[in-house]
Amino acid sequence: MNPNTSSELDAFWMPFTANRQYKAEPRMLVSAKGMYYHSEDGRAIIDGTAGLWCVNAGHGRSQIAEAVSAQVSQLDYAPTFQMGHPLPFELAQRLIELSPRGLDKVFFTNSGSESVDTALKIALAYHRARGSNGKTRFVGREKGYHGTGFGGISVGGLDNNRRSFGSLLPGVDHLKHAWLPGSEFTRGLPEQGAELADELLDIIALHGAESIAAVIVEPLAGSGGVWVPPQGYLKRLREISQAHDILLIFDEVITGFGRVGKAFAATRFDVIPDIMSIAKGLTNGAIPMGAVFIQNNLYTAFMQGPPEVIELFHGYTYSGHPVAAAAGLATLDIYAQENLFDKALHLEDYWAESIHSLREFDVVKDIRNLGLTGAVEFHPGASPGKRGYQVFHHAYWKQDALVRCTADTISLSPPLIIEEGEIDQLIHALRESIKSLY
Ligand SMILES: Cc1ncc(COP(=O)(O)O)c(C=O)c1O
Repeated sequence: MNPNTSSELDAFWMPFTANRQYKAEPRMLVSAKGMYYHSEDGRAIIDGTAGLWCVNAGHGRSQIAEAVSAQVSQLDYAPTFQMGHPLPFELAQRLIELSPRGLDKVFFTNSGSESVDTALKIALAYHRARGSNGKTRFVGREKGYHGTGFGGISVGGLDNNRRSFGSLLPGVDHLKHAWLPGSEFTRGLPEQGAELADELLDIIALHGAESIAAVIVEPLAGSGGVWVPPQGYLKRLREISQAHDILLIFDEVITGFGRVGKAFAATRFDVIPDIMSIAKGLTNGAIPMGAVFIQNNLYTAFMQGPPEVIELFHGYTYSGHPVAAAAGLATLDIYAQENLFDKALHLEDYWAESIHSLREFDVVKDIRNLGLTGAVEFHPGASPGKRGYQVFHHAYWKQDALVRCTADTISLSPPLIIEEGEIDQLIHALRESIKSLY
């Protein structure tokens, strides 16, 4: 049944995967269309995760395939170091039309991890360009995920992602996890907890604002288990950072492109950061691409020296890759033509109602949601993580549904094209999978 030989299976060291467990029983997807993957054993698997939070417009979009194919034939590759080609300029302009106010410059990368490291480097270089050479510290947050580069894992707050990799970046502090006990089963934003942002004041008191370059958070912490920010928390973080000349970076790699019912979480919460990292939904997952939005005044600070001097010694061979840019433009067209961000917002209540119906099980410890994101967290059993994996495993093999498990939390983030009937199907699959725990 499995199309791969065992030596092929052995050859690929899979990322963020229990390799031996997976290879003993491979879960192999071979094609996809709309809301469904197709497995090698011929089943249609409903995609409850938009791949890895990236296929926001659903699978197999011919508009993207055609744009990519035409671009590979016309211009497969050209550099953007001291050279240019049209599409990344066009895409940057189109992205700025979507971006929160003031975020008027775009730097292209190839992934969320590169976007985060680019954002951190721009923050450092910005302060230096203004003569504030001492502003070199970063503040991240517990449970934050900012990709896998050394910068990203240093400011990130998931212990397994940090533990094996040495001493990381020096000079990083972490805010407390932005969630208070008593917020369980909140629909949308918890009412309590805005004051957790004030911990930034303690960090400022400890080190001095003159040493802190930036604070970086996911507006809604996705990979760590869908942690929705308390009401007023992000505004408070913005006020404190602004008052102390500390840049605020929003990592919107997951929350971008309609996931929370607006183009970006910054728009939804009306909190505008100085820098914003994006990736994933930018190309609907079809071609790797990331980007960083930068406030105009930061860009201007770099543009003060002689015009023949390179202003930022940073970039990637594939920054603004023509084929990725073509995929990005086609993706933005689909989002606009199908009004997918509004659609996600309109489905939010139905989605919330559906996912919170799983509260009936005593094994469920908490349920969280916003936009088209959701998490169902289980009380850990005798062996932490086992319940989450068992539900994920049952959902895939017995209920034909793809959900994501991180320890004992099941996360959901379906493509924004999902319809109410498919929400019912997905939640039914999850309900039946939870029953398998009993
Ligand atoms: C918030 C956030 N930042 C960064 C990343 C890293 O993105 P990539 O895997 O494309 O490097 C992710 C990936 O899930 C993410 O959720």
